[in-house]
Amino acid sequence: MARLIHVLALAFCVGISVILGDPVPVFNDCGSKVAKINSINITPCATEPCQLVKGQNVSVVLEFTTNKQITKASAVVHAIVLDVRVPHEIPNPDACKDSGLKCPIAAGGTYNYTSSLLVSKSYPSIKFVVEWELQDQDGDVIWCFQVPAQVEG
Ligand SMILES: *[C@@H]1O[C@H](CO)[C@@H](O)[C@H](O)[C@H]1NC(C)=O
Ligand SMILES: *[C@@H]1O[C@H](CO)[C@@H](O)[C@H](O)[C@H]1NC(C)=O
Repeated sequence: MARLIHVLALAFCVGISVILGDPVPVFNDCGSKVAKINSINITPCATEPCQLVKGQNVSVVLEFTTNKQITKASAVVHAIVLDVRVPHEIPNPDACKDSGLKCPIAAGGTYNYTSSLLVSKSYPSIKFVVEWELQDQDGDVIWCFQVPAQVEG
C-alpha cells in the first residue's frame, strides 16, 4: 500500500511538471567561458523540443554570472540542421544595446540578457537545434547554449 501511494505521488508530480512546463529548458552548454549560465527562460518553450510558432516571437531571458570584465558583447545565433550550422541573423547582434545589458559589464556580477527572435513564416517545419552565443571583446565565448526546437505550422 505504501508503495502504491508512493507510485501515485510520483505520477502526480510528473503530471504536474508536464502541465506547467519547465521554465529552464534542457540545454547543452557549448563552451561558456567568460560567464556561467545560471538559468535560461525561453518563451514559448514549455516542452522539449521548444515548439516555435511561425509568425511569432520567441523570447530568451538568460541569467549569467561573469568572471571577467566585458566591454563588448556580440550575439551569434546558428540553427543546426542535420549537423549543418546555418548562421541566423538577429535584429540586435550588439548585446550591449537593446538586450538589457549596459557595457562595460563588471567581472563577478550577475546579469540578465534578454532578446527575441521572430520565427519567420518561411521557415520549414522541421526539428533543429538553436545555438545562441555571446562573444566578448577578445572573441572569447561569454556563454553558449543549445536547445532542441521544432517549428510548428
Ligand atoms: C516581435 O518582436 C518585435 C521586436 O520586439 C516586435 O516589433 C514585433 O511586433 C513582434 N512580433 C510579434 C508577432 O509579436
Ligand atoms: C533575471 O530575470 C529573472 C526572470 O525575470 C529574475 O527572476 C532574476 O531575478 C533576474 N536576475 C537579475 C540578475 O536581474
